[in-house]
Amino acid sequence: MEQIRMAKQIVRPCVIAGNWKMNKTITEATRFIDEFLPLIEKSTTQIYLAVPFTSIQPVVEKVKGSSVIVGAQNMNDASEGAFTGEIAAIMIKEVGAQFVILGHSERRHIFGETNEFINRKVKRAYADGLQPIVCIGETREQHEAGQTQQVLTQQLKESLAGVNAAQMQKTIIAYEPVWAIGTGITPTPEQAQEVHAFCRQVVLDNWTDKTSLSVVLLYGGSVKPDNTKLFMEQTDIDGVLVGGASLSPISFAQIVNYQNATVKG
Ligand code: 13P
Repeated sequence: MEQIRMAKQIVRPCVIAGNWKMNKTITEATRFIDEFLPLIEKSTTQIYLAVPFTSIQPVVEKVKGSSVIVGAQNMNDASEGAFTGEIAAIMIKEVGAQFVILGHSERRHIFGETNEFINRKVKRAYADGLQPIVCIGETREQHEAGQTQQVLTQQLKESLAGVNAAQMQKTIIAYEPVWAIGTGITPTPEQAQEVHAFCRQVVLDNWTDKTSLSVVLLYGGSVKPDNTKLFMEQTDIDGVLVGGASLSPISFAQIVNYQNATVKG
């Protein structure tokens, strides 16, 4: 049976997602899958793997019949056209992608993506049949200035503007504090819970109440095998989005199998 979380009669799936970022050639990606699948054979968790564009098709072939689904890390908002170097939703869908990460902090901060641009991509993803994982998160400066709630509210409202309740139920939202990404620093699980509960409330206030309970919220930022369980135990955290620790089949499998882990500290 698939792992689920219950909240006031609403059932939400547990999602463990890996984001490989700009790592792994096709050779490395397929070798990862060969090593990874035997380690998660008994898992019933829904595993999402966001791989580089070049590896989507070969990885989709390799994971057939497993609980892994494959997606992309970005796409353009247009359906096609003169956008040199960009990639369209229908292109990644055709090679087997089922989801796409949108608005990752590296896209926002390194490549200057705005909420408005991300919103257009979100709408394109729905139109072309891809499930979006929409990332939000405050910077260290915003965090220290006490602006976290204000920043997240704006990111949610603007990135998801015009999304209807049915689409919202298929959307995954990943809260990734920028200061926790790749730093080894994390909020405490209790602090993360507070922020996730806040995000759920923003969804509740702006979409329907049914939606807010069923929308899947992930935590991301320095998730490792020995802290996964602490985050997963929080009421409003339905899963994790993992960067660095998803690059090794052993550590990513330990995260997937977090319920078997002995938590330190
Ligand atoms: P790390 O797990 O390496 O901190 O990265 C998190 C992330 O950005 C996932 O999208």
